[in-house]
Amino acid sequence: MPDPDGQAVEVLSLADVAAAAKAVTSAAVWDFIEGGSGVERSLRANRAGLDAVYVLPRILRDVSRQSAAGVLLGSPVSMPVVTAPMAYQRLVNAEGELAAARAAKVADVPFTVSMLSSVSVEELAAAGGTLWFQLYWLRDRAVTLELLERAEAAGCQALMLTVDVPRMGRRLRDVRNGFTLPPGVTAVHLGGPETSAHRWQSGASAVAAHTQQIFDPTLSWSDLGWLRERTTMPLIVKGVLDPNDAARAAGAGVAGLVVSNHGGRQLDGSAAGIDVLPKIREAVDGRCQVYLDGGIRGGGDVLGALARGADAVLLGRPILWGLAAAGERGVNDVLSLLREEFDHAMILAGCRDLADVRQLQVVDSRAPMR
Ligand SMILES: Cc1cc2nc3c(=O)[nH]c(=O)nc-3n(C[C@H](O)[C@H](O)[C@H](O)COP(=O)(O)O)c2cc1C
Repeated sequence: MPDPDGQAVEVLSLADVAAAAKAVTSAAVWDFIEGGSGVERSLRANRAGLDAVYVLPRILRDVSRQSAAGVLLGSPVSMPVVTAPMAYQRLVNAEGELAAARAAKVADVPFTVSMLSSVSVEELAAAGGTLWFQLYWLRDRAVTLELLERAEAAGCQALMLTVDVPRMGRRLRDVRNGFTLPPGVTAVHLGGPETSAHRWQSGASAVAAHTQQIFDPTLSWSDLGWLRERTTMPLIVKGVLDPNDAARAAGAGVAGLVVSNHGGRQLDGSAAGIDVLPKIREAVDGRCQVYLDGGIRGGGDVLGALARGADAVLLGRPILWGLAAAGERGVNDVLSLLREEFDHAMILAGCRDLADVRQLQVVDSRAPMR
């Protein structure tokens, strides 16, 4: 991976990629990517939760043959990782989502297309990997329906409805920066070249103003049924933290849940997904898949998340770090490093396959075993 002067940078951890990305990204865009809402308590909780997870490695298990491969909603994957939906990826690289989707294809993991993608789902489908499509609930039901049809026609394998953004969290870094999209970066699925997200206002996030205009806060349980009737794609609900909600969603026939506080970008003070995962697993009782996101920064985190009850993890910001640092090659580096670290962690933990990982016992260092 090159540094800003074109010198090769040794990448031994995802933190190395973050450093390379920061060096080539404007301060306002870096803040948009890295920032959380409020005083960023929930952002920190994600790392604190993962940092507290320790596993009990198993011994004497012949790990000469090990595989991280699995199946997520019918799609074979090389490891239990999916790229998280993230808006406006052309902010950090001219090819944007296209480069990231190509890298996900090489790594053999699904790429989730954000509804606010800056490259269209049809162009991404032409790249050929497994695509999932993420939807926000729009005030204009006709546009939602049209997007559903486009995603399905493009061959997306799952539909992910994000339910934790009735309005955007107060992301103070963006407010202070008056964060506004540059002219060439648009939400291509929503038509028109420019929106209120491109109109600078002093002391306000234009991106937040735009979402407030188009997102529909009336979204409720009955809408899940409406959605399920209109698509054959398996439905995933993203942004679940309360086990009661998880149980209800599983009962409503969803195929998967993403246990998530939106990378600490929505309610500041919402719990970290990793901390509620065991309770959610229990509530769901095998009725649907359970995914985790928030703070995953290495193969050891993937191991810990699976041991705690996740079927897979969503990887967010590190994808953007790779994209910013070196485009498609940078995202390749991120995903192959994660894979290498996860394989290594599995072997050292005595795990031959993902079923072994899920059976590992976990200690939370904030509540030691007695
Ligand atoms: C720059 C950025 C844009 C995002 N855009 C979306 C989005 O369009 N839809 C969505 O459901 N989540 C979005 N998210 C949240 C991610 O899908 C994910 O929940 C979160 O980033 C995971 O945490 P991590 O970044 O710590 O891995 C975004 C996150 C970031 C950092």
